[in-house]
Amino acid sequence: ISMVMNRIWAFRENSAEKTFLYKKLLQEKHTFNKTNIDLFRKDIGADLGRNFSKVFIVDQQNSPLGTKLRYNLKSSKKKYFTVTEDFHKRIPKRSKFGNVRRCSVIGNSGIILGSNCGKEIDEADFVFRCNAAPIPPFTADAGKKSNLTSFNPSIFTNRYNHLKKEENFTQFLEDMRVYNGYIWGACFSTSGYIKECLRTLQNYNITENVFVIGHPDHFRNHMIFWEKRGLSKRPSTGFYFTNMAIYHCDEVHLYGFWPFPHMVDSTIKKPPYHYFDDMKFDFEIKNRDVHIMDMEFSILVQLHLLGIIKMHIGECD
Ligand code: CDP
Repeated sequence: ISMVMNRIWAFRENSAEKTFLYKKLLQEKHTFNKTNIDLFRKDIGADLGRNFSKVFIVDQQNSPLGTKLRYNLKSSKKKYFTVTEDFHKRIPKRSKFGNVRRCSVIGNSGIILGSNCGKEIDEADFVFRCNAAPIPPFTADAGKKSNLTSFNPSIFTNRYNHLKKEENFTQFLEDMRVYNGYIWGACFSTSGYIKECLRTLQNYNITENVFVIGHPDHFRNHMIFWEKRGLSKRPSTGFYFTNMAIYHCDEVHLYGFWPFPHMVDSTIKKPPYHYFDDMKFDFEIKNRDVHIMDMEFSILVQLHLLGIIKMHIGECD
């Protein structure tokens, strides 16, 4: 497999030839391979520690009063957040992720449009979504079930005017009602959004889901795991959740992962970067400066070929 992948890697970045080869590889017959799944879990578990499933979310057990939680980004103005009494009483007592049979992880690429995969996605027992991707009107292609949805606090700026006015907060709560399970805030990436996160924690009064905060050490350990294996930039949320899913789910199915400027079937049309907005993205810049999604994708393809995950890039039946 790595020989094939090296050949692909040798192609000019994001070339149509490369995406063509990916397509061919992902169309081959696929079966889940329990031995490889167990090996991967052992590897990641050995590096991240036995507490892997207990420190995904900041809770009262893993973050007692006075704990210093370290912000993940080097650019963060402050280095640590100290757990206060008010913060402590608002986080869950205990969190632990158990084993789940089938999981769907939804990436935000525009290739999901027209896939008709919504029903198949929702057949999973647990659905991971990224960055509060809107649910309606995309249910036919992207499904409607959600058990864990990431929320990058930059969304407070982009969609809710930094929560400056009461009406912004009301709108934010209203929009969150479409999700179930957890809204997982990446609040400890930088100290820049901690104010908005704390306000949310204090005033999150909806019944549809729970607002929780990602543990920065969990993400950091995962980042180091992949750094040691050649991934030199911060992993993307979708990649992080895929790893989390492999650890906890017997079958992991991925949809909407396609960080390339070429459609799967056509070299002419450009897929939208996101399926729900018209965000313009320079794929090259995104790949080099933020995450190396190109390399992440090549890892995901290898995991697919090894039967550890199943990637879906086409239409569903
Ligand atoms: O903020 P971030 O770049 O991590 O996420 P996003 O743009 O909201 O997309 C969610 C996830 O979908 C990313 O983390 C990627 O793993 C995946 N994605 C992809 O594979 N291809 C795209 N064109 C866009 C996103």
